[in-house]
Amino acid sequence: MVAGNWKMNTAQDEAKALAKYIVVNTQDIKNGEVVLSPPFVYLFAVSDAIKGSHIKLSAQNMYFEDKGAYTGEISPIMLKDAGCQYVIIGHSERRKYFNETDENINLKLKKALSTGLKPILCVGETLEEREKDITEFVVGIQIKKALYGIQDISNIVIAYEPVWAIGTGKNATPEEAEEVHFFIREMIRKKYGNTADKLLILYGGSVTVDNIGSLIEMKDIDGALVGGASLKGESFVGIIKKVAEKR
Ligand code: PGA
Repeated sequence: MVAGNWKMNTAQDEAKALAKYIVVNTQDIKNGEVVLSPPFVYLFAVSDAIKGSHIKLSAQNMYFEDKGAYTGEISPIMLKDAGCQYVIIGHSERRKYFNETDENINLKLKKALSTGLKPILCVGETLEEREKDITEFVVGIQIKKALYGIQDISNIVIAYEPVWAIGTGKNATPEEAEEVHFFIREMIRKKYGNTADKLLILYGGSVTVDNIGSLIEMKDIDGALVGGASLKGESFVGIIKKVAEKR
């Protein structure tokens, strides 16, 4: 899977043009999943642009209620209505700037699943946590709290995104990333058995067309969640092609 997280970028025309470029230039790729995650207000426009193609739509966030007096929030029912099949949950920018907690993330995951959306759960350590050698502890707690009370994880995707690698141009080495991906898979195996083998674990954090090739060679890296490099059609398509070649 290659998922593009456009964050708070693009205008309507750019969003439509980018989506169309990706549709046209990935037509021959049949293996794997390509997911686009535009800003909320462009979901309908992008949904329209990718109609009839193999590309899937995702939102960048959602609230954990169906409807009500929650000014400024978007419900999972609205996202389905807009054509979303996926939703990113717990991105580190939401944790950092919008005080998103593991408890909220758990409620959002449960709600996404019960609404029929596939969550892409983001986890990752800060630089300070990595330097203190508590990466696995931090990622482990984030996952345990996020999945609390969830029995079936077959529709969940996990994205490991070291916070220090997001938007910084510093990416984890393939070996550093693989170590955490392996840790995640084995931790999932303990609780959910062999579903762990089918779980998609994406790497995210300064993924580019130049570094994806060596990342995707790692056994437990099943794809990428791409920010900056997903905003340019050519580089995003380049990443998709490299992942499709290797898998
Ligand atoms: P980046 O963002 O590729 O720009 O580092 C990744 C992400 O935040 O998902």
